[in-house]
Amino acid sequence: KAKTSPFVYDFEATAPQPFTTDDVITPEGFTWKPLVKWGDPIVAGAPEFDFDNQTAAAQEKQFGYNCDYVGLVRDRHDHKGVLVVNNEYTNDELMFRGYTGASGLTDEQIKITMAAHGLSVVEVHKAGREWKALLGARRNRRITATTPFELDGPAAGSTLVRTKADPTGRRVLGTVGNCAGGTTPWGTILSGEENFNGYFKATAAPAGQEAAFARYGLTGSTGRAWEKVDPRFDAAQEPNESNRFGYIVEVDPLDPTSTPRKHTAMGRFKHEGANVSVAPDGRVVAVMGDDERFDYMYKFVSKKKYVEGDRKHNLTLLSEGDLYVAKFTGDGFEDGVSDGTGEWLPLVVDGKSKVAGMSVEEVLVHTRLAADKVGPTKMDRPEDVELNPVNKRVYAALTNNSKRVPSQIDEANPRASNKHGQVIELTAPGNDHTQATFTWKLVLVCGDPNDPATYFNGFDRREVSPISCPDNVAFDSVGNLWISTDGNALGNADAFFMMPLEGPHKGHLKQFHTVPHGAESAGPLIVDDTTVFCAVQHPGEVDGASPSNVQSQFPYDGTGQPRPSVIQVFADKPGRR
Ligand code: FEO
Ligand code: CA
Ligand code: CA
Ligand code: CA
Repeated sequence: KAKTSPFVYDFEATAPQPFTTDDVITPEGFTWKPLVKWGDPIVAGAPEFDFDNQTAAAQEKQFGYNCDYVGLVRDRHDHKGVLVVNNEYTNDELMFRGYTGASGLTDEQIKITMAAHGLSVVEVHKAGREWKALLGARRNRRITATTPFELDGPAAGSTLVRTKADPTGRRVLGTVGNCAGGTTPWGTILSGEENFNGYFKATAAPAGQEAAFARYGLTGSTGRAWEKVDPRFDAAQEPNESNRFGYIVEVDPLDPTSTPRKHTAMGRFKHEGANVSVAPDGRVVAVMGDDERFDYMYKFVSKKKYVEGDRKHNLTLLSEGDLYVAKFTGDGFEDGVSDGTGEWLPLVVDGKSKVAGMSVEEVLVHTRLAADKVGPTKMDRPEDVELNPVNKRVYAALTNNSKRVPSQIDEANPRASNKHGQVIELTAPGNDHTQATFTWKLVLVCGDPNDPATYFNGFDRREVSPISCPDNVAFDSVGNLWISTDGNALGNADAFFMMPLEGPHKGHLKQFHTVPHGAESAGPLIVDDTTVFCAVQHPGEVDGASPSNVQSQFPYDGTGQPRPSVIQVFADKPGRR
């Protein structure tokens, strides 16, 4: 009965699972296996994972915590490559026995959490149907909250980003809150620094930065206590350090000695991620989300053009360019579809500020304040944004917005108290996303399909899977939209879904796999249409959970503790049927 083909898009939908199911449920005929787990000794010389004897020195060489974005840069031989994974944050209460709150963490434990953040780079190869991590391989690397970065672009070196430890304003230690990301056409990985505000103690905003600190949520204590081991995380001691976080980060995974960079040209906000595509004229474009209720979608267009094969040149493309913010106008609800036209409102063009009263440096560091001045559309938490390589349209997950009230409804954000989110499609004139205008449509309005407010791109609601809180998007080689969810508000386990965008099954949303108790289904990557990589993030993250009261033992490796891990899902028997 169950069809199984070598192609991941050919599957029978799985049923919604209760949130408490502590298992990975795959479609019939598919298997899941771990690929790499928190604590795996990825860098040569790293010790084996030992939950009860963690050290910062070990964690600095081991796979990080709470994996999110998953990118793969292939080698010339297709069965090999370098996997790059964001490690967005840590669940300190699940990492350490006897956790009593941030104030009870030892300095060593705080340093372990700092080392568990950032990114993990690990070589992988395919053996038969299964991918394997190559522990100790030459290009394996950890990037953590203390790794040196170069701050680059127009705001680098400005007075806004200089600190006592770095009077040049060009050398930043570490990255945090790395959420979604992208893989560039020149084989680097981009990663968005999202909830960076949660790492800075800001009992009071520094003089002159009151508006910015309020707008970025830099307020109060952090629940992490990093300032105990490094005073730069206390705004009273280092007022500009937080201005050095909130960027798109670029990592070259092919050169383990390279210095990763933070691109100020792409603006500073709660960056979910960035996916770069090459426009018809050769410039590169990235549409990006700022994940906060009522925040905006942005677009970066490079000044220089992509040159096929000239990697050194292409590595300069994100250092200079134009920045815009999106305004969506509806054409009316009467047609039964949420759709309309849009325009890109300029913030920085040709190296000049387009925002009254703000310099280029101010626009790029305090991008939210700049955008507020030009009238963009306040969105329902814009998360991952990606260009569909087949139809050249851009798709953005808008996760939810519980705080929107009826007077704040617009056609792109059509529901008050929006618990379930939507997916918006942007079509550029001539598929050229450098253009100043676009048209748009909601292709998915999530929720219980019995709810008439939901919409599945015109498909019969009785035949689709329920979905809630779209977070990350991905595409297979035939252009199907894949969606992972974060925080399913229907009470179900988070899951991974596929929705065709063309053909007779257009809008026929189907649930693929679900993730274990407390986990989020993050970082999806479709590999060769035969395998799905998925970051199982924060397994066991449930109120009251602790190492002695675990709600998940994923990935069921005998340690008895949950370990955030990247998994792979593939068909058992290729070619059957
Ligand atoms: Fe880290 Fe916006 O999710
Ligand atoms: Ca996310
Ligand atoms: Ca309409
Ligand atoms: Ca999310």
